[in-house]
Amino acid sequence: MRLHEMTSSETTPPRVLIADDQSDVREALRLLLKAEGFHTESASSPRAVLSAIEKSFFDVVLIDLNYTRDTTSGQEGLDLLNRIQSLDATLAVVVMTAWASVDLAVEAMHRGARDFVQKPWENARLLAILRTQVTLARALRQAQRLEAENSLLRAEGLPTLIAESAAMRPVMDLLNRVGPSDANVLITGEHGTGKEVIARTLHALSPRASKPMVTVNAGGLPEGVFESELFGHVKGAFTDARADRVGRFELADGGTLFLDEIGSVHPALQSKLLRVLEAGELERVGSSQTRRVSVRILSATNANLPAEVLAGRFREDLLFRINTIEIHLPPLRERREDIPLLAAHFLRQHAQRYRKPLSAFEPAAMQALLDYPWPGNVRELDHAIERAVLLAAGERIRAGDLALREARDASASPRLDEMSLEEVERYLMQKTLARCDGNVSQAAKALGLSRSAFYRRLQKHHL
Ligand SMILES: Nc1ncnc2c1ncn2[C@@H]1O[C@H](COP(=O)(O)OP(=O)(O)OP(=O)(O)O)[C@@H](O)[C@H]1O
Ligand SMILES: [Mg+2]
Repeated sequence: MRLHEMTSSETTPPRVLIADDQSDVREALRLLLKAEGFHTESASSPRAVLSAIEKSFFDVVLIDLNYTRDTTSGQEGLDLLNRIQSLDATLAVVVMTAWASVDLAVEAMHRGARDFVQKPWENARLLAILRTQVTLARALRQAQRLEAENSLLRAEGLPTLIAESAAMRPVMDLLNRVGPSDANVLITGEHGTGKEVIARTLHALSPRASKPMVTVNAGGLPEGVFESELFGHVKGAFTDARADRVGRFELADGGTLFLDEIGSVHPALQSKLLRVLEAGELERVGSSQTRRVSVRILSATNANLPAEVLAGRFREDLLFRINTIEIHLPPLRERREDIPLLAAHFLRQHAQRYRKPLSAFEPAAMQALLDYPWPGNVRELDHAIERAVLLAAGERIRAGDLALREARDASASPRLDEMSLEEVERYLMQKTLARCDGNVSQAAKALGLSRSAFYRRLQKHHL
């Protein structure tokens, strides 16, 4: 939620809050930004930053990660970043880090910083980053307004599931077979691979589709409220229990309960969960009355649960109970054939949402999408395209609009440990072909393959 409604129009000078404990740094930044048409305010401590944000509106906050207490760990800056996020999660924060402290910059990005600059900064780069963030933030606010006007765009129903690649075939098979059943399904896969999409699809395919799918984010529930959240409580069960409360299990009665991030359930609560799953009945906290519920359990995790079991952090009997069927979602880098379709889908979606006349990608942009390793999987692709849609000026998305920073490094020397066997093979074939100036016989020989075996692989990899 924004604390400040926009009072200025979108054409007023962008407002930047500069935070650094060194006055010469603040002054240098102020002069630079002023000359470029920004309106600035300065703060010399985390406390001053927070009070400035509470008082007035900023398009971007540029914060140093080190203040007086200790000057190298960056901890104060990271804490400040968290506090800013909790005040206003939509506010764009750019962090400044000391030269060569890339880890810190990465950590800040994980915690929600939109970008980073290294000190000593290059003026042009700093200005480019700030302008981009201002444009994005303003476009986002504009879009939020449009969205409020047009609730039609928030269509519900069966989720879109794009899966044409060979790697997704087993997933689609399983979906079709177990979707209509009551089987408990454990959905595994890295962050952003589409676990929730799969859960929604399973529910929509089941005879329970007309009943709700209730989601519990097990990772987000503090230990103390887990039980009452899941099983409900009766009035007086504990100090704050002023009235009876229905838990999520009962809410999902007849439908589906989706236990997201099941790997984070506290060990002490795992056995309570197991008991309810085994018996199909529960007692509300503070009550001895037993209630029967009929729920289908879908769970998701990006943890390796068998390894968690071995480490003694996850109960083996609970794992057996929830993974009657396991659906594993391959990371996006192992199903690159899906990238063009997914990209086109997100482009349509965001172009409509932001009302921009964009209909295609330039070939170089598509190539960049295909080359990028996508550590954040489909969600990262979604975000990259949303960002590109916001930034694009023409009718087609250009490679530069995508701002895939690591893509260049990746194509220069792909990280083998991030590649699948298939990708390594494709990469080797490309390299060898290039080395042999496209001569197939030579390339085949260099790789110890017969010409026909080499040709088969060329076809397989669409080379
Ligand atoms: N196959 C797909 N087709 C279309 N959209 C997809 C697909 N997979 C994922 N998405 C989209 O990507 C985003 C991330 O998907 P989702 O939330 O299901 O991932 P997740 O695996 O649950 O991630 P996390 O582990 O971070 O919770 C969502 O916006 C979702 O709609
Ligand atoms: Mg999820």
